[in-house]
Amino acid sequence: MKPLPEKVCFYLLLLLMLTHAASGQVTRLEVEAGHSIARIQPTMYGIFFEDINFAADGGLYAEMVKNRGFEFYDPMMGWKQPNSSPYGFNKESGIAGILSPGTDPANRNFCRVTLLNDSGYSLINEGFRGMGIKKNARYRLSLLAANPNQTVHKIRVAFIDQDGKVLGETLLTPDNDGWKSYSATLIATETCPKARLRIAFVGNGKIDLDNISLFPEDTWKGRENGLRKDLVQLLADLQPGFLRFPGGCIVEGRTLAKRYQWKKTVGPVWDRPLLINRWNTEFSHRPAPDYFQSFGLGFFEYFQLAEDLGAEPLPILGCGMACQFNTGELVPLDELDPYVQDALDLIEFANGTTDSPWGKVRADMGHPAPFGMKFIGVGNEQWGPEYMERFAIFQKAISEQHPEITIVSGSGPFPEGDFFEYGWEELKKMHAAIIDEHYYNSPEWFRTHATRYDEYDRQGPKVFAGEYAAQSVRTTSPDNKNTWECALAEAAFMTGLERNADVVVMSSYAPLLAHEEGWQWTPDLIWFNNLQAYGTPDYYVQKMFSTNRGTDLLGIHTQNGEALTGQNGLYASSVKDAPAHAVIVKLVNTSDSAKPLEVTFKNQKLAKKARVLTLHSDHLNEVNTFEQPQQISPEESEIAVENNRIRIEMPPYSVLVLKTGLQEGN
Ligand code: AHR
Repeated sequence: MKPLPEKVCFYLLLLLMLTHAASGQVTRLEVEAGHSIARIQPTMYGIFFEDINFAADGGLYAEMVKNRGFEFYDPMMGWKQPNSSPYGFNKESGIAGILSPGTDPANRNFCRVTLLNDSGYSLINEGFRGMGIKKNARYRLSLLAANPNQTVHKIRVAFIDQDGKVLGETLLTPDNDGWKSYSATLIATETCPKARLRIAFVGNGKIDLDNISLFPEDTWKGRENGLRKDLVQLLADLQPGFLRFPGGCIVEGRTLAKRYQWKKTVGPVWDRPLLINRWNTEFSHRPAPDYFQSFGLGFFEYFQLAEDLGAEPLPILGCGMACQFNTGELVPLDELDPYVQDALDLIEFANGTTDSPWGKVRADMGHPAPFGMKFIGVGNEQWGPEYMERFAIFQKAISEQHPEITIVSGSGPFPEGDFFEYGWEELKKMHAAIIDEHYYNSPEWFRTHATRYDEYDRQGPKVFAGEYAAQSVRTTSPDNKNTWECALAEAAFMTGLERNADVVVMSSYAPLLAHEEGWQWTPDLIWFNNLQAYGTPDYYVQKMFSTNRGTDLLGIHTQNGEALTGQNGLYASSVKDAPAHAVIVKLVNTSDSAKPLEVTFKNQKLAKKARVLTLHSDHLNEVNTFEQPQQISPEESEIAVENNRIRIEMPPYSVLVLKTGLQEGN
């Protein structure tokens, strides 16, 4: 190899020195610790729950039996008859078939088992991609049975593994000719991620079955018809400021007939007619024809969950428009009254007195005290004049009758472009209170849009960043992963949300939950299977921001008086937590080099130490997994504060939260 000419060597050396000097350059930041620019709304960081990816049935809703009431469009879906012919019959020992005498849409069908001899015919429920059972845990079984002439002596209910090994068993005695409810406790003898429920019969003749249900006893707060404790705990750990529910596109439905109707999701659980989940076959690459909404997790349970989490409930209602990505079916304006009435009745359900019709429904469900709902969303992701016309009707009715309720409107599915511009322009004219914006975009987009809200009109509507997530490949690609690069980019962007907390009053990542096998959309904040769950790096970013949200926005700027919005790959925001008497700084380094920083706090005397939370990985493609759920998770340390100054070196690709107390007398 020929030696490089001397001049080239000199310039290379110079370049190397300059690069080194630049990366070693200290970034000096000043926090205006004594001056609150704006209040940080308690709703600043929240969660958005939609029943997508088996988030409700098969996920948060702890029911373990799929198609428990035989009401799916294929009423035997989820149920197997062992040793059966391709047509589902086991002629040797028995036959299960569906009878549909019912006219009540919630309860059309039941299952009739005809036993041909005493050889132990059984039915098996496969659960939601299996049932996760834990050794020694107790499970609450209930079912309805009618046993005419009582020729069936026993029902033997057992957990079995994939090979048919029994992992816990209980016996029921069906001692009534007519319909009667039976319950029992099943105790698992082993832990098994993919158990199934076998229902076998001792005797002869016919027996009718319905509403076969199984819940772990150990649900969130021990509630019957309860929620999965580990998943709710992950949500609670985020300390969300609000809970947006139930969607998402699920609110709108592909057609109006298939829209979400909250009134059908309250009252006795078995009276709630189920609905096919719109995400069942939305993506041909991830079909889930067995995906239904049982509504066991319905509006009452959502309000209760919000209350448990200390989060403001934010229900979203359809506004007379089916999903515009599907049919876009419209309710004529002069037929919109029932939809508007649904919104008014919902306010009564949540907040009304117990002697009001809908307040009474709430009270009868066990919650006489009002839920104290303050927000309502009209429409999900609608666009165009059709939305504006309908929104105006809702806005008028709700604000006239309930001026205390803040209405959230939407600006369509995209964060820019014609739909978005038009939506904002029109909603501004209508003095909309809060406008929901959605962005699913590349990490690069998130990094370069940290200044998105810097120029927003301070006198205009407030912003709800209602659905966002960085996409490692592209929106709706099944190859998207919750990589560290995505989470890091979101953190950079979130400093921009926070710096603009006078305009941005709510924000939430989307989607929230995904079943390892039952998902349709990725990336997602939390992944789970039937036994485990873990937070993605994005989850930890959300948690770091949310649990350090503070109460007051503080200015933080470089020596040039600029906000840090990506210079040298760095981002920053700062808040004060008045009740905790503390100042918090959030720092993001999206570059591949370590960055020395010096943060000086003006006009407030700080304590001598600061707590540092660091989220970091050297590898942008790294992800958390079931095997390594905390591969990327925050680490806590302490650092000295000298003369109101913190000196710290940020690792490459890192998110830091510095929190330091204020000295007494400040
Ligand atoms: O979060 C997934 C979907 O993305 C939501 O249902 C919808 O609002 C958006 O298009």
